[in-house]
Amino acid sequence: MTATAVQRFYRYHAYVYDFTRWTILRGRGQAVEQLKLRPDAQVLEVGCGTGLNFSQLLARLDPRRGWLTGLDFSEDMLARARRRVAAHGWSNVSLVCADAARMDLGRRFDGILFAYSLTMIPDWLAALERARTHLEPGGRMVVLDFGRFERWGPLGALARGWLRLNHVETRRPYVETMGSLFDRVEVHGRLGGYWFTAVGSNT
Ligand SMILES: C[S@@+](CC[C@H](N)C(=O)[O-])C[C@H]1O[C@@H](n2cnc3c(N)ncnc32)[C@H](O)[C@@H]1O
Repeated sequence: MTATAVQRFYRYHAYVYDFTRWTILRGRGQAVEQLKLRPDAQVLEVGCGTGLNFSQLLARLDPRRGWLTGLDFSEDMLARARRRVAAHGWSNVSLVCADAARMDLGRRFDGILFAYSLTMIPDWLAALERARTHLEPGGRMVVLDFGRFERWGPLGALARGWLRLNHVETRRPYVETMGSLFDRVEVHGRLGGYWFTAVGSNT
């Protein structure tokens, strides 16, 4: 699977994303909570899509001091995020079109969120490493994504297969890699491996 295949996928899915994904993408509130954002925090969401997490992230920030940057490599998804930002009149948000595996924003963040994006990034290891270099010392990085459905028996294989058809790869060592990139990693698995959060931080 190439990066362009994912971009092509979202050219069409961008139209229905907000109406369909609430059924399957769980745990947004918990992931945002785990960032433990201060009102003046500088936050980056990698693979922000249409901005479905923005209202929860921005609710924790002081609009005069906190700042949210949303990064995605799909112009189609970002166009919807841009519309969302304009509709809400949010003035402390910037959107960047870039590949997470190569991003270089020239600044650091107090909190970085990957919400259902890491499993779709072919060069996910580079994306995690790039993100870590953008984290302030003492900052927190939260990955929310599909798990391996390990307690789902035969249905687990079906779920993983269906996700793979939709460019989502669940079987890579995401959590283990977080462990090698950070001093501390806190992992919460939910619903028998449906989804997980992994929170990385350095001392
Ligand atoms: C399932 S959506 C998640 C969107 C949003 N985070 C959410 O929680 O609704 C995955 C997003 O990751 C983006 N993405 C995938 N690979 C990427 C990459 N290499 N660089 C930047 N964004 C990427 C896709 O374009 C898509 O918008």
